[in-house]
This record gives sequence, structure tokens and C-alpha cells, in this order.
Amino acid sequence: MIRKKGNFYKLDTPNTTLVLKAANGSAEYVYYGKRLKSLENDYERFVFRKGLSPFSSFGEDEQRRPGISLSISDGSITARFKFKRAKFVEKPDLSPLPSSYAEGESRYASQTLCLEFTDEVTRLKLCTYYTVFADSDVISVSTSLHNSGRREVTIHSLPSLQFETLSTGYSFVNFCGWGWGNERWKKSTHLSVGMKAVNESVVGYTSHTANPFVMLEKEGSVYAFNLVYSGNHKECAETDCVGRTRMLIGINDYAFAYKLCSGESFYTPEAVMTYAEDTDGASANMHAFTATHILRGKWKNKERPVVVNNWEATYFNFNKEKLLALADEAAALGVETFVLDDGWFGKRDNDDSSLGDWFDYKEKTGGLALLADEVRGRGLKFGIWVEPEMISEKSELYEKHPEYAMKIPGREPLRHRHQLMLNFADPKVQKYIVRVISSVISECKAAYVKWDFNRFMTDPFGSEQRAGEYIHEYVKGLYTVMGKIVEKFPNVLFEGCAGGGGRYDLGILCFMPQIWTSDFTDARTRLWTQSGTSYGYPQSTMSCHVSASPNHQTGNRTPLETRFNMAAFGAFGYELDLTKLTEREKGTVKAQIAFYKKHRKLLQFGSFYRLGDAFKDNATGFICVSPDKAKAIAMLCIREKVREVEEERLCLKGLDRESTYLVSYREQDNYGDGEKFLVGGDLLEEAGLYTSELFADKDIEASANPVFTRMILLEKTRKKRV
Ligand code: DGJ
Repeated sequence: MIRKKGNFYKLDTPNTTLVLKAANGSAEYVYYGKRLKSLENDYERFVFRKGLSPFSSFGEDEQRRPGISLSISDGSITARFKFKRAKFVEKPDLSPLPSSYAEGESRYASQTLCLEFTDEVTRLKLCTYYTVFADSDVISVSTSLHNSGRREVTIHSLPSLQFETLSTGYSFVNFCGWGWGNERWKKSTHLSVGMKAVNESVVGYTSHTANPFVMLEKEGSVYAFNLVYSGNHKECAETDCVGRTRMLIGINDYAFAYKLCSGESFYTPEAVMTYAEDTDGASANMHAFTATHILRGKWKNKERPVVVNNWEATYFNFNKEKLLALADEAAALGVETFVLDDGWFGKRDNDDSSLGDWFDYKEKTGGLALLADEVRGRGLKFGIWVEPEMISEKSELYEKHPEYAMKIPGREPLRHRHQLMLNFADPKVQKYIVRVISSVISECKAAYVKWDFNRFMTDPFGSEQRAGEYIHEYVKGLYTVMGKIVEKFPNVLFEGCAGGGGRYDLGILCFMPQIWTSDFTDARTRLWTQSGTSYGYPQSTMSCHVSASPNHQTGNRTPLETRFNMAAFGAFGYELDLTKLTEREKGTVKAQIAFYKKHRKLLQFGSFYRLGDAFKDNATGFICVSPDKAKAIAMLCIREKVREVEEERLCLKGLDRESTYLVSYREQDNYGDGEKFLVGGDLLEEAGLYTSELFADKDIEASANPVFTRMILLEKTRKKRV
């Protein structure tokens, strides 16, 4: 709820308050933190005289690098925006860019405050929009620039959000990887005075190396931020010598130059921010917001099926018999959806051809529609893999339409995985892709579509776009195509993917409720990736599969149960040749699937907490707790079996501290039933469980550089505590 008193605007969420002052030509942040009760008269004494500004532009009375950067056709770069008015408005429609939304009751209870500023000389109008949802501790912020003057203006940088607080000592926390495979590993950099830290992507997609979810963290205070966008992004944190910490979030200014002629407007993508006392609170806020205000459609709150995906089972080397043998086994073990991955189209026998030829490779599939029917005949739903944004030079599409490819005239393009990208900024290409991908989905009546993206941009170019606008126009084109396809198939479960989890962001999640988390399916590396991902994104969005051991990417050996214990904390499936399992392993898989189905509501949608810090501690894990705290499932994990760890205890979280829980270890294939015992929720949270339990793993020979895990069930008993 937003209230105004004098020059102050108090934006309340259930547990936080943001206070802004807007008057006498300027606006500033006054407070953002724990919810304040009353609407005070004397906020004035809390206004910082040097300003904590919601934007910054060149030519103001300060020397930090401003967030906004413009060049004006008269040869100047200065714009001094003065506060004009504040108004309550409808939340801006940013389409084709996706953004958060509210539905039902919450729609009427959401409010947007717009602060309007103008530069008198250029007559540029700058607006910052703050939306508050009645049921969420996340505030959405976006910015627009309108040219109501006569001079042409080029925007080099226009952050979606500038946040400032009068406080130092924060660490800048970002989630990066070195490329393919270890996405969203947490890194923390202390921001000393005068220091700047940047997290960014410049290669046309969210990237494996820098996720837009970032935090400012210090003891007792965490601010978390994200951007609803899948292109080049930049998050920059800076602490200055007067004690201010500033965060800028938005489209990356690198190679960005957007021309704004007279009468034109530019709307930034939406940024979101939250405050909490610790990272658990910040994650809980982001999870709830994503689940309610980002995810949409039929699958938003719907339990996700157990899938089998043939990629690591066959790679490109399959035929109809192989696929059906896999489907037979999958059906017998309780799998619900069969996903046919890369290699079913054109003449695709390896990764050097056929992208763009979205028609059936009959010699391999035996007829896609027929194969899909036969899979369905086995009681499974049928899913299919596509990579719509790409083109192989060895393809019929390239022969017919070489101009659809993203290439710079006169320059040899760089190929990645032998492929080029399509020019999605071109409406003709967009139309073509919507048509062909829709007809594939219709032809095989897919219930599940995995949308992959396996290279980044090296030659961004479109003959109709200006250089500094192209990448943004590509992203808008992508959203247009995704939006149309997703809208046509409201019952289909779409899964985003980008060579693993390279495009894991709130933009994609506005269209697709889950994303393939990483190609590194090894339980050991997944601990970090799933843990890192969980800081910003709920577990229902993480697609996690059990794969073979030794792991195809790392060579690590891990017992089947360990692989399950890790993958079960997300949208779950198998990605290995089930036909090659021993009878005993099949029994284990069957039991795993039955267990997962029984508890998937809790595992996919329960309140998720990290136990310990997977990036620091040896003993760590996850716990999912039901909304009424009656049930929980935890996974305890140690990375190294060293003596000291044997006596270590791992504290649980999120439980009812007044109640007693029946604690039982999930029956393991390798070592019997495990004990059951009664213990209070408070003791489990304060004293925790001994990790020595994890030393009981008898399947040690199956492990090389593994992790050791056990899954624990907690059920509240009626027994009164004394
Ligand atoms: C990358 C994905 O992450 C994999 O799961 C698989 O779909 C391959 N692409 C197929 O080319």
C-alpha cells in the first residue's frame, strides 16, 4: 500500500517499507528496510542532505559515474532532471518485454507510484515507476524516458533501477560461473569505500557467467535485486566516501545506443528489489514473488511430471527402437513424460547440421507423430526439444533463406557448436519460426517443450536496426516469438534451456515455468548450482535430473541414491539409459519415483531453505517445509568425509519450534530402514542433526570425488511438548 503525507511517499509491503521524498525539484530515498508502523510527520530529519537519489544523470552536483548517459544532437551530454509531479498510475505495460503482474484480488490491491522529472532544456521527461503488491515483499521498479523536445537524443545508459542507502560495509553477492557447466555459484566481494563491483553480460543473453540476481549483504541487512530481462544486463554496486552505497540495475550500457527522436519513448525492462534481515528472508521473498507475480499459466502452481529425457542416454545416436525401449522402461518405472531431445529433425546426426529444419528425420524417429502416439500408448506424455533461435549452414532453411541468419555483410561470422543465430529482430524470421515451431508442437501433440539456446552472440547485426539497438531488438523479438508460441499452447509445459542454465532469468520465467538448471548433472557440482540458484529462484523453476555414474561431464562416481537426493529438490527426472540399469537399480529408481510423486508438492512448492552454506561449509543441505509446517523433507550433505565432520551438526530451518517431529531417514537402497525418533522443532533448529549419519554410506566403492547425502522426513506429531 502506498500512502502520501506532505512530500513523503510511504510504500508498504507486508514486512518492509520504502520511503521516498519528492519535492522542490528533487526526489530521494529516505528509508528502505523493515516495515515501519506509522506514517511519520518528521521523516524530514532522516533525509540525507547529500541525497540518495532514485536516478543520476550527468551534469548534477556530484562526481560519481551517473546511471543515465545520453548524447544530445546539439552536441551536449548534460540533462538536469527536476521533479515535476508524483501520480498514481496503472503499472506500465512494457510489452513485448515481459513483466510482473497481479491477478484476482491482488490485482486491485497493487499500486504504482510514478515520479516524473523533466529537463527544461531538452524537454526530456523521465519517469520512475514503483509498484507494490499487497501480498509481496518485492517492489518492482522501471524507468521511462520520453522525448518531448525537438532535439534527437541517444540513450547510452538508462538503468531500470537506481537504489541508494546511507550505509556501508556491504558485500556485493553475485552468482557466476566460468561458462558452461557451473552456473550460479555464489561469490561475495566486500565493497570497501570508493570501490565498485560489476556483474554483467555483454554477449546477448543472460549468460552462464553472470546471473542478474545480485545482493548487497551484511550482518542483519540484505537487499536483493533482479531484472526481468534475458539480454545484456549490468548490475553495479558502489560505496562512496560519504557513506552511500548505490546499486544500478538494468540493460548493459556496453554497445548500447538507443535513438530517441522527438515524440518517442523508451521503457526499460522491469527491475525488482527486496529487503530482508538475512539471505533466507531475501530468498523467501524472491521465491514467493516469482511464484505469484512472474510465473503464469496452467503450470504456475501445478505439480510437474517426472520426465525421462533421452539426451544423455543416446545423444544423437538413436532410432525408433531405442527410443521405444527407453519409453517402455520409463513407463514400467513410473515416469510420466518422455522427452525427445536433440537429433529428431532434418538430417541431424551430430551438431553440425539441420538447425532450422524443423521437420521430422523419419529414418531416426520412424515418423514423429507415430512415435509420439506410440509413446503415449505406453501411458507416457510426449515432450520435444527445439532450438528455435538457431540455424545451421548445413540446412534447407539456410539454402532457401541465408538472409535469415545473423551475419555481418562482408565479415566471416564466428560459429559456435557449428551454428549461427537467426535474426530474431526481423519480423519475417519471427513469423516463420512461430509457424514452424507451432506446427512441430501440433504434429506430435507435445505436452512438454524444451526450448534450448546453445551459443552466444558474436556478430549481432540486422540490416534494419542501428548498431546500438540491435541486441535489445533481438531480445524483444525473442519475447514476441516465445509469447506467441506459449499463448498458442496453453496446456504445454515449456522448459527454458541455454546450453544448460545459461538463460536462467525472470524474463524467461514469465513465459516458461521451469528452466534446465545446468548440464552438469553430477550431484557434487549440482549442490553448488542448485544452492546458488535457490538464492534468487524457487525450486519449482529448477529442472533437475538424475544422470549416469560416472558422470558424463565430470567423471565423478556417485551412488544412485545420492543423485536422487540432490535432483529431488526441483522439477525432477532421469537423463540416463534406463534400459542399462541392473534389476536392483531399477527397483531403486521405481522406489525413488514413487517417493518423489508422493512428496513432490512439498519438494516443488514447499518453503525452501538452504542448510549451512554450500560455498563455505562442508556439511550443508536443503530443507522444504510445508506451509503449515506439518511436514518437511531435508537433504543433509557432506562434501568430504573428514574426521572433524563426523561430529558436526547441521541445524534445520523453517520448522514449528513449538511442536514435536517424528524424524525418519528415507529408506535407502543400500542400507536399510534407518532409525526413527521424536524430537522438538526448536532442538532441530538450534542443535541440529549429527552428520555422522552420512558416514553410514556403505556404497563407498561407488564413489569417487562424491558427495554424501541422506534424505530425512519430518512429520509433526500430535504429541504435546512438555
Ligand atoms: C544443451 C542442453 O543443455 C542439453 O540438455 C541438450 O538438450 C543439448 N543442448 C542438446 O543439444
